[in-house]
Amino acid sequence: MKKQAGAGTQDVGGAFHQPVLLQEAVALLVTDPTGIYVDGTIGGGGHTAAILQRLQPGGKVYGFDLDEDAIAHCQHRFAREIAAGRLILIHASYRKACSIQEERKAPFLAGLLLDLGVSSYQLDVGRKGWSYRVDARLDMRFGPHGQPAEDLLASCSEQELIRIFRTYGEEPLAAKIARAIVQRRQQAPIRTTFDLRDTVAAVVPKARLRKTLSRIFQALRIAVNEGLQVLEETLRCIIPQLQSGGRIVVISYHSLEDRIVKMVFREYARTRRPTEDNPYATWEPVQPQLRILTKRPIVPSPEEIARNPRARSAKLRAAEKLPG
Ligand SMILES: C[S@@+](CC[C@H](N)C(=O)[O-])C[C@H]1O[C@@H](n2cnc3c(N)ncnc32)[C@H](O)[C@@H]1O
Repeated sequence: MKKQAGAGTQDVGGAFHQPVLLQEAVALLVTDPTGIYVDGTIGGGGHTAAILQRLQPGGKVYGFDLDEDAIAHCQHRFAREIAAGRLILIHASYRKACSIQEERKAPFLAGLLLDLGVSSYQLDVGRKGWSYRVDARLDMRFGPHGQPAEDLLASCSEQELIRIFRTYGEEPLAAKIARAIVQRRQQAPIRTTFDLRDTVAAVVPKARLRKTLSRIFQALRIAVNEGLQVLEETLRCIIPQLQSGGRIVVISYHSLEDRIVKMVFREYARTRRPTEDNPYATWEPVQPQLRILTKRPIVPSPEEIARNPRARSAKLRAAEKLPG
C-alpha cells in the first residue's frame, strides 16, 4: 500500500526520535553543571533531557529547532523545566545561537550540541518530503523560509542539478539523473517524492536504487536548507562565545558535514599558520583556541546500531575551548 504523509505529531505516538550516541555526547558536553548550554537541534529532546539531568540550579539549556512539530513536542515534554526557566525553546535555526549572548545578555556558553540531520519523526511522518519511502510534496525545508525542493527541481539548470547531486550527495550517476529530471519536467512537473523516485528509478539499476535515492534526497535536503554553510558559520561564530573549558559536540550523519566539523576544529586548534596563502610561505605561531577531544570520531557501538539502525552512519566529534 502507498504510504501517505501524516499530518501531526500524534502520527508516531511517543516514538519521536531515539537519540544517537546519547551517553557519549552528554558526557563530553556537560562539564559545568551550572553552565549555559545550547542544544541547536533539539528534535524530540532526547539529548536535552540527559543534559538537564546533569545540571544543577543555575544551569540552563537553550533548545533550537526549525521544525514546529519538534518545538510543540518539547513544549509538552519539558513543560516543568520550561516553567522553571531551566529550558528556553527557540523556534529558529541554530545559527541564531550566535546572537544569544548579545540578545539575552547571557554569559559565555558552557557548551553547544548539534545533532544534525532529520529526526525519526520527520522521516516517518514524511510530511516535508524528506523520505523517498513516503509519498509527499517535495518541500524538504526545515522551516518556512527558502525555496522548496520542488521549485529547485523545476528551476535549476541541468548543470546546477549535477553540481548539487555531486557536491552534496557524492552521487556517481549525477549527470544521468540530472538529465532524466530535465527530460521529465519538460512533460510534467516533479512535485512529489514518488515523482522524483520514479524519475530516478527509470535510469538507475535496481540494485543501486536504494543507495542512489538516499544520496539524491540527502543532496536536495542540504541544498534546500543550505545546511553545510549554516554549520560552518555557526561553529565559527560560537567558538569565541564559549567559556574556557566549554565544549562543542557535533554528531553528523554524512561525510560532508563531518569534513566541515573536522576542518573547523583543526583550524582553531592549530598552533601555527602560514604567513601567506602560497606553498612557499613561512609559518608563524598562533594561539590555539580549541583542543580537539576526539582524534578519531566516536561511532555507535554494534549494540546501538542493532537497537537503532538509523544510528549507523553517525560520527561524533568534540572539542574544548582553551583559556585566553
Ligand atoms: C537528528 S534530529 C535531533 C534529535 C535530538 N537530538 C533528539 O535527541 O531527539 C535533528 C533536528 O534538527 C533540526 N534541524 C535541522 N536543521 C536545523 C537548523 N538549521 N536549525 C535548527 N534545527 C535544525 C531538525 O528539524 C530535527 O528536529
